[in-house]
Amino acid sequence: MTLESGPSATGPILEVNDLAVSFGRGAWPAVRGLDFRLNPGEVVGLVGESGSGKSMTAYSLLGLLPFGARLDRGSILFQGEDLALLPPKARRNLLGRRLGMIFQEPLTALNPVYSIGEQVAEIFRIRAGLNRKEARARAIELLGQVGLPRPEGAYASYPHRFSGGMRQRVVIAMALALNPDLVIADEPTTALDPTIAAQIIRLIQSLTAQRGSAVLFITHNLRLLIGLAKRVLVMYHGLIVEELTDFQDLRHPYSQGLWRALPPEPGTGADRRLIPIPGQAPGPGELIPGCAFAPRCPQAQEICHRELPLLKTLAPARRVRCHLSC
Ligand SMILES: Nc1ncnc2c1ncn2[C@@H]1O[C@H](COP(=O)(O)OP(=O)(O)OP(=O)(O)O)[C@@H](O)[C@H]1O
Ligand SMILES: [Mg+2]
Repeated sequence: MTLESGPSATGPILEVNDLAVSFGRGAWPAVRGLDFRLNPGEVVGLVGESGSGKSMTAYSLLGLLPFGARLDRGSILFQGEDLALLPPKARRNLLGRRLGMIFQEPLTALNPVYSIGEQVAEIFRIRAGLNRKEARARAIELLGQVGLPRPEGAYASYPHRFSGGMRQRVVIAMALALNPDLVIADEPTTALDPTIAAQIIRLIQSLTAQRGSAVLFITHNLRLLIGLAKRVLVMYHGLIVEELTDFQDLRHPYSQGLWRALPPEPGTGADRRLIPIPGQAPGPGELIPGCAFAPRCPQAQEICHRELPLLKTLAPARRVRCHLSC
């Protein structure tokens, strides 16, 4: 299958095998061997504390690793084609067209010297070959779809005139303009207040569902993924430690810790005590023998400090990397 042939009806849209990324030519591993897949149209969550390697995973999929980072090994099969082997120009071509990215900080994704509308229209002009008039019309239509009031007026506005939530709507418009088959959203609501964040999540959910795009939704907040992601990958120190579909059935002590550390849901009146995970996540490049979570794990046994547990498959879409779980 070629990259132009669209998603396969049956196979995964993305299949990542043994993906590893490091800084300092292997000296500081950031991602240590990830295996996961996304099916067409599926929303999958990727969750973990700061520094667990979520963004480096996203950037390696998109071919946007920062200076100093390198892909050490692994394959990234996107609709059957290995992105890791594609030349940079071919990868850049996929961005926007087949792969969309929604960044955490919308300001960095928008150019301050062009109007909002020009930036959206440019995608239609340059990437879809529309003329100026058509591109403008499509951009205005899309700005309306992402919920900007008076889209014609918004077209001519500059990014600094918009609130964070409005800017994020524009970034979503740009990411989804060409109906990509896969959208990667890296903490798209972290900079927003909870009400706006909820609106933005609903927007991503409804627009990607309309387009049939698969979504990898990255967050440090497990609760955000309820009702959004059908499947969740929990990441710790560069590795997947759990894959789950049922939020009531968290098996890895780290996933359980993430859940207990969440404040009660606002507005529910729940009065649950917040229990932070003890200790600190390992620093960049820190080498920890055995299970990297063992030094913080209330249930750790001697073997946990000695041997890295395998990521065991318990059932389809159900994996756990823990000596104590089976
Ligand atoms: N530019 C960089 N130079 C060196 N190390 C880096 C750089 N960017 C990230 N790292 C390291 O790579 C590891 C993974 O970082 P990454 O940004 O993927 O984490 P993350 O899970 O996205 O965290 P956050 O929730 O804070 O965004 C961390 O140990 C981090 O310190
Ligand atoms: Mg990040």
